[in-house]
Amino acid sequence: MSESQTGASVMAAIHERRSVRSYSPYVMDQSIVRSLLAAAVRAPTAKHEEPWIFAIVQDNGLLKRISDLAKKLMAESESQAHVDRGAHPPDFFSIEHFNIFYNAGTLVVICGKLLGEYVVADCWLAAENLMLAAFSMGLGTCVIGSAVSALNRPEIKSELNIPSDVRVIAPIIIGVPEGETGLTPRKEPHICSWN
Ligand SMILES: Cc1cc2nc3c(=O)[nH]c(=O)nc-3n(C[C@H](O)[C@H](O)[C@H](O)COP(=O)(O)O)c2cc1C
Repeated sequence: MSESQTGASVMAAIHERRSVRSYSPYVMDQSIVRSLLAAAVRAPTAKHEEPWIFAIVQDNGLLKRISDLAKKLMAESESQAHVDRGAHPPDFFSIEHFNIFYNAGTLVVICGKLLGEYVVADCWLAAENLMLAAFSMGLGTCVIGSAVSALNRPEIKSELNIPSDVRVIAPIIIGVPEGETGLTPRKEPHICSWN
């Protein structure tokens, strides 16, 4: 945890957050996860529906199983793409030791009750709150979109106690960063009009 990061202002957190893909083996205290969830649910929410539900995974065996399933599903869909566009599937899906969660000790799965057209927006707003809050506490995060298909499989949802009418939207890993991660660049905002 870097000192300058701890208690970062909102602007600093927005400008300095980055996706972290290397973590120290540290089991995050439940109280830290709860404070991140408290920040997540402060996000704006359409019609004040608060449609989010959170599944927390800290069991390394379960994280590995979900990672393996996600890799299998991605390899299958990439094989299909290979047929369609003549490209080879990315090698890392078949690398045995590659863990799509980068060995982070905590996965927060943000799910949404399918209540209306803004459920997905609500959940992503909660996701960003969580990631900025984590950054300000010296923690690293990364959205793992590649886990969504596996997490939405009925057998995994049932294992995580996610009701069948609830959809997995934003899986986010959290942990103590190991080593330094550089900031990625951004294009200038494309302003198409300013009347
Ligand atoms: C919807 C979404 C899905 C993502 N899925 C993955 C993923 O599966 N694996 C991964 O390593 N990073 C994933 N990322 C992180 C992006 O790669 C990352 O945000 C982007 O490269 C910009 O880098 P930064 O977050 O460090 O600024 C995802 C980000 C978003 C918003």
